[in-house]
Amino acid sequence: MMRLGVVQFRPAYKDLEANTAFIVNSIATTDADVIVFPELATSGYFFVTRNEVRGCAEPIDGPYVSQIIHAAQTHGKVVVCGFAERDGEQLFNSALIAGPNVTTRVYRKTHLFYKETLCFDQGNTGFFVVYLPHLDCTLGVMICYDWRFPESARTLALQGADVIACPSNLVTHVWRMAMPVRALENNVYLAVANRDGTEHNGNDEVSFNGQSVIYSYNGNVITSASAEGSATLVAEVDPVKTRDKRFNEFNDIFDDRRPNLYSSQS
Ligand code: ACM
Repeated sequence: MMRLGVVQFRPAYKDLEANTAFIVNSIATTDADVIVFPELATSGYFFVTRNEVRGCAEPIDGPYVSQIIHAAQTHGKVVVCGFAERDGEQLFNSALIAGPNVTTRVYRKTHLFYKETLCFDQGNTGFFVVYLPHLDCTLGVMICYDWRFPESARTLALQGADVIACPSNLVTHVWRMAMPVRALENNVYLAVANRDGTEHNGNDEVSFNGQSVIYSYNGNVITSASAEGSATLVAEVDPVKTRDKRFNEFNDIFDDRRPNLYSSQS
């Protein structure tokens, strides 16, 4: 068994110092083995130019990300946290995975949403999983709009993910229909860390709808937050339970797949 945590909050736009202080404090005070924070949690979300992102982006050894990695290691908790990443001239909407017994890794968002397409580069890490030996848990990460592509969660699950962490800044409502299906169709736990609030840029604005949630591997809600306000969710989960993909004596949702018939050509 392990304790899976999600922190919902409203990052202050472009205030890396305040957001990092909040995140570091949450790592210290949240009683969980794995803690998931929202997408772009250190910087806020609504950038429309590369220059704006550049002002808030840092490499993986940058000063704010380093504080988060240090807190994860000091407190012995695995942290998944969204941040704006700079790698040379490239800018990514990324999530770091850091903590005890794990080499720090960065996942770069595969599917860019709305005006992210103007100011971030498409992620180039692809989907990958990390094994957490002290928890006997295999963890995968997708970011927000990645949910719309069943291939994201499916790829992670086929690689052996028991738990998928989904740092998010969700703005539509349809995600609440599909997200539990991502858990059910892969038989994995799914931890969605969303934010609340509204951000403006020029004449445009985006509103985020909270309701962070941890789904069990059957798609049921274990625990969820309100649409507004900060919240910390923690659920006891058993990663081993996700590994048997059978649901009766004849059917196994992975073995029953027929990928040779899934071509996009007819
Ligand atoms: C989103 O991908 N932030 C909706």
